[in-house]
Amino acid sequence: MIAADLGALAAEVAREAGELARRRRSEGVALAATKSTIADIVTEADREVEHLIRERVRAERPDDGFLGEETGAERSSSGCTWVVDPIDGTVNYAYGIPGYSVSIAVVEGEPDPERWQGVAAAVCAPALGELFTAVRGEGAWLDGTRLAVTTETPAGALLGTGFGYDPSTHDGDLATVRRAMAMARDVRRMGSAAIDLAYLAAGRLDGFFERGLKPWDFAAGALLVEEAGGAVTRLDPSAARPMLVAGGPEIHRRLCELISDRRG
Ligand code: IPD
Repeated sequence: MIAADLGALAAEVAREAGELARRRRSEGVALAATKSTIADIVTEADREVEHLIRERVRAERPDDGFLGEETGAERSSSGCTWVVDPIDGTVNYAYGIPGYSVSIAVVEGEPDPERWQGVAAAVCAPALGELFTAVRGEGAWLDGTRLAVTTETPAGALLGTGFGYDPSTHDGDLATVRRAMAMARDVRRMGSAAIDLAYLAAGRLDGFFERGLKPWDFAAGALLVEEAGGAVTRLDPSAARPMLVAGGPEIHRRLCELISDRRG
């Protein structure tokens, strides 16, 4: 299957999964469990949506691997792996805030973000009515419009970020925000890293940084940003909470510099 076909399948499955998530949200949210901390929740819908995606992929691409937030990893014998967050922005979802998304990436190579290469991506935000897609070498798109990251930020950069669920990490994350403010016009914390990265690809944010994201939070969004002309780096990939930095080339360079400078 060529990359464009994988992209079409990812988009179709993301749209279907998004519709299921939206429908379940309108019926009410049932909390299924907490994960790393009490603030880190999983809903029944997270599980059901991941199940739908896994079954759809298995039916169409039985040899592909799978790496999902809720159901874990299954190795690939085809060289392709589907990296899936069924509901990114689960806390928004639980509170009834529309900023949640289904994030699906197809990657090639080892199932490790330092070694894989993104092939296709789809981020569906069903309550916002938007589906962002990308195919390696063919650009990033939103409803027929080709996306491009911003390059000029004369009034300073509009930056997106996020915080982990573990309260003991908040001071460090806030110190990073303070360093990044040197280049910011303002900061947004929207609650879904996949949407943050999709917005960056669409020029709705100028830069993004967050420590401790999991591969399924950023795999699809990273390809969207790269295909929109931006750069994405994990500054310290072997750390317990690697720092993801993304932006247009110049904004990405300045953000990396500011964030790595531990003096401030
Ligand atoms: C979370 C979201 C959030 C980010 C957290 C992630 P989840 O993913 O992407 O924006 O700040 O770090 O864990 O738990 O909703 O899938």
